[in-house]
Parts: sequence; C-alpha cells; structure tokens
Amino acid sequence: PPVQVSKICCIGAGYVGGPTCAVIAFKCPHISVTIVDLNQARIDAWNSSDFKLPIYEPGLVDVVKHARGRNLFFSTDVDKAIQEADLIFVSVNTPTKKSGVGAGFAADLNYVELATRRIAAVAHSSKIVVEKSTVPCRTAESMRTILEANSRPGCRFDILSNPEFLAEGTAIEDLLAPDRVLIGSLQTPDGLNACESLANVYANWVPKERVLTVGLWSSELSKLAANAMLAQRISSINALSAICEATGANIDEVAHAIGFDSRIGPKFLRASVGFGGSCFQKDILNLVYLSESLHLPQVAAYWRQVVEMNEYQKSRFSKTVVDTLFNTITGKHIAVLGFAFKADTGDTRESPAISLVRDFLSERAYVTIYDPQVEEAQIWLDLSEACPLVPLETIKKQVTIASSALDACKNMEAVVIATEWKEFREINWDSVYKNMNKPAFVFDGRMLVDADALRAIGFKVKVIGRGERV
Ligand code: UDX
Ligand code: UDX
Ligand code: ADP
Repeated sequence: PPVQVSKICCIGAGYVGGPTCAVIAFKCPHISVTIVDLNQARIDAWNSSDFKLPIYEPGLVDVVKHARGRNLFFSTDVDKAIQEADLIFVSVNTPTKKSGVGAGFAADLNYVELATRRIAAVAHSSKIVVEKSTVPCRTAESMRTILEANSRPGCRFDILSNPEFLAEGTAIEDLLAPDRVLIGSLQTPDGLNACESLANVYANWVPKERVLTVGLWSSELSKLAANAMLAQRISSINALSAICEATGANIDEVAHAIGFDSRIGPKFLRASVGFGGSCFQKDILNLVYLSESLHLPQVAAYWRQVVEMNEYQKSRFSKTVVDTLFNTITGKHIAVLGFAFKADTGDTRESPAISLVRDFLSERAYVTIYDPQVEEAQIWLDLSEACPLVPLETIKKQVTIASSALDACKNMEAVVIATEWKEFREINWDSVYKNMNKPAFVFDGRMLVDADALRAIGFKVKVIGRGERV
C-alpha cells in the first residue's frame, strides 16, 4: 500500500526547493518538512529572525512566517534529515556544463549525483526519492541505479520524477494554485504506490484532476518540452518584432490579433529584449543535446534555433541603441533600468540586461544600472563573468550602480528599460527629462512606456516591435 508521508526532507534550499517545500509545509500542518543545504549562509538567511530570506519572491515571507518552527525547518544537517524522512525531494542545482563532454549544452549532474549518493550512504530505512530539479531524460534511471547499488539490506528506494513548473516572481501563487502537478513513476506496483503517496501529499490542496500521473520518462521529457515550447513562443514573437520594426507594424497589435485564436491563446506573447532565467536556455540546450545523442540532428537544429533567435534579439536591441545614438556610444552615458531577468525577482541568471551592459561596455560607453531587488555584489559578479577578459577594476570605472531610477537617469544621453518592474511605469518622466543630456533617448525593451506621452515631453523613443521613426 502507499506510504503515509509524515516527514519530508528537501535537499537544496534554492529558488525551487525553498518555495516549493515551504508551501507544502504551509498546506500540510501534519507533515514535518525539513529543507537542507550545504550552504550555511543560505540556511542562516532562511532562519533569520527578521525574515531576510535568501530569495525575493512575493508572498514567500508570509508562508515562511506561518510555518517556520511549526512544521517547517531549515538546516545544514543533511544526513539527519535524510535519515528521518519518508520522502526526499532532490532539488539541487543543475547548471549547464562549462567543460568536458557536452560543454555548453549538457546539464552538470554532479550535484544530483552527490546528493543521491549521500542518500544511499546514510539512509537506514526505505525512502521515496523525488527528482525535483530540472534534469535531462533518464536521470531518474541513473539515480535508481546508484541507490540500488549502494543501499543497505532492507532499504528500498522508489524513484519519482516530479518536475516543478513554478515561474519566479509568481512562485507562491503558482504553488498554491498550480495548473497541474506532474508525477512520473515506474509503472510497477511499487512505483505506482510511491506515486500515490506523493499524490496524497498534493491532494491536501490541489484538486485531484490536476494531479497528472505518467511514466518516469514522459514526466522528465514533459518538463523540458514545456519550457522549450514556452521559450519558442517568445522567440517566435520576437522574430516577428523584428519584422514589425522594419515595416511599421506594431507587435502589440499583432500579438493581440493572433492571441484571439483559441488554438494559440493570448498568454506569453509579449515581445521583449529576449528571455532570460535559469530554465529556458538551459532546458532547450538539454533538449538539443539529448536530440543529438539520439542521432536526431534535424530535431536538435530545430530547437537550437529558438536559442539563436534569443541571442539575435538581444544583440539586435544593442545594435538599435548604437545605431540610433548616431552610430557611436563611445564615451556616452546610458542608464539601464532593471537588471533582473524579469520583474518581481532578484534573480539575474541569464538576464538579457547582462548582455546589453556587456555590449555597451565593449563600445566603451558609461553605464549606470538600477534594479529594485538585485544586490550590488551580484551585478559585479555577473559583469565579471560576462567580460572575463576585463578586470573588475576596469569594469567599475565604466559602471555605476544607482539607488533609484531617477538617480540612474541623471546626466545620461539614453535610458534603456531592460526589466518590466512595475515601479518603472510610475517614473516621473518630466523630471527625468529635465536632468538628461539632450537629445534624450528612451529605448524600451519591455513595451512598458507610453511612447506618445514621452515624445510629448521631448524624448526620442524606441519601443521593441514598433516601426515608428524616432
Ligand atoms: C519558466 C517557466 O515559466 C516555468 O514554468 C518553469 O518552471 C521555469 O521556467 P521563469 O523562468 O521563472 O519560469 O519565468 P517566466 O515567466 O517563464 O519568464 C522567462 C523569461 O521570458 C523572462 O526573461 C521573461 O521576461 C521572458 N518573457 C516571458 C517574455 O519575454 N515574454 C513573455 O511573454 C513571457
Ligand atoms: C489552416 C488554419 O487552421 C486556418 O485558420 C487558416 O485560415 C487556413 O490554414 P487548414 O489548413 O484548413 O486551416 O486546416 P488545419 O486544421 O489548420 O490543419 C492544417 C494541417 O495541420 C492539416 O494537415 C492537419 O492534419 C495538421 N494538423 C493540425 C496536425 O498535424 N496536428 C494538429 O494538432 C493540428
Ligand atoms: P534552483 O534554481 O534549481 O533551485 P539553486 O542554485 O537556487 O537552484 O539551489 C540549489 C541549492 O542546492 C543550492 O543552495 C546548493 O547549495 C544546494 N545543494 C547542491 N548540492 C547539494 C547537496 N549535495 N546537499 C545539499 N544541498 C546541495
């Protein structure tokens, strides 16, 4: 029969493990949830008395306030949490490999493997082990082999795949009312029982018809496929935005018109300076790598193009800035508003803002950056990584970090909007204009400003996907 889950351990207290298991604890007061991580500073932040949590996510603090100390715990004692749990989520990082076989495409599964080996090494009793990190297909199979080869007598491990579909910035909303929960298991009696055990945890707040149960490999592939198709929509709309700019059509009108087709639907069709985030690019590259390993080069080429279009969109936007500023930005001053990869998060992984700033720096412009959530240290780290040949001291001579949008725009020739933060909609453009060098330019990479209102003030305005002359 399925196990009654009463203790859950989550390995990895990051963007996925933290919010996911905090919500499980919030919704299941009868289950004790312990989230563990090797990173002491991260765990200290989760435990901080003033709730300065390591990640910014609307609504997260309230959930943690409610459950922490009741049935939600954060700890660095990984072994103890593994030993006590009936069910273990593996939610560690799986970055794209930087070297070795598959470098630049394949996922680095080292962290998953280490966590799996740790479970095998310390567990005294049977466990349900749930793969939560986004991983390439068949990882569950590898985890199963490692666990079976290393388990003590009498210990059984059932492996499930339970990919997470939350989006950053809306993680808590998404977790409280998910479109669906997907659980993959072996189609054996044991596998199906383990699946039911986890489904019963979600049944505490997710309607039954939204909990989908499938085979292990379908579950793993569905996660990659969902992200690839979402990213593909953005690359499609961004490809059309280039046509709009060249012809005088308006991408907003085009997206609106096509979104009315119920087969297409209106969501996720906002043209932008390019998609970012830790998942889209990584998961597509995973899919490309998988396709190539399966000797399906045409399939690989098809998906690779989605990433290439995204790179093109970012560099096309940088080029528009340079071209519009009379073909040179050397020595010019540019404010970049927003550094996170989307609004309502402090996360900068693969943020298009990083590429823009790198391009401006390589043209020897001066850049001032403002973001309401991203830590200063993170910006320096990202820029150092983006410009590996330039010493940080040199970068710091060209880049300033401002503490408000208004400050960032002072004495600039141009303002570039890179993230769609709500507060940028409320900027007092009259005062921005007064303090800028003239002619003053605004480049809107997020379709956020009222271009006509800005032009009335005196700005020269370029919005992504609009064909009007500046
Ligand atoms: C994504 C998936 O949405 C989520 O289901 C999965 O679990 C993880 O990856 P996330 O990366 O957090 O979530 O955010 P998302 O809202 O999908 O945005 C990704 C990027 O696409 C952002 O840079 C965003 O600005 C961009 N985007 C999104 C657009 O440019 N246009 C759109 O219409 C939507
Ligand atoms: C299409 C558009 O749907 C319609 O809006 C436009 O005005 C004309 O082009 P049509 O070509 O008549 O219409 O049929 P459609 O139902 O779109 O199918 C086109 C092809 O796609 C068919 O061969 C169909 O078998 C195939 N198809 C459709 C699939 O292979 N899978 C699907 O899920 C849907
Ligand atoms: P994600 O966005 O997938 O959640 P993060 O990088 O935010 O990724 O979080 C992953 C977390 O997993 C990190 O805090 C990292 O320290 C932790 N981690 C990685 N390997 C292990 C391990 N073997 N044991 C415990 N924690 C781990």
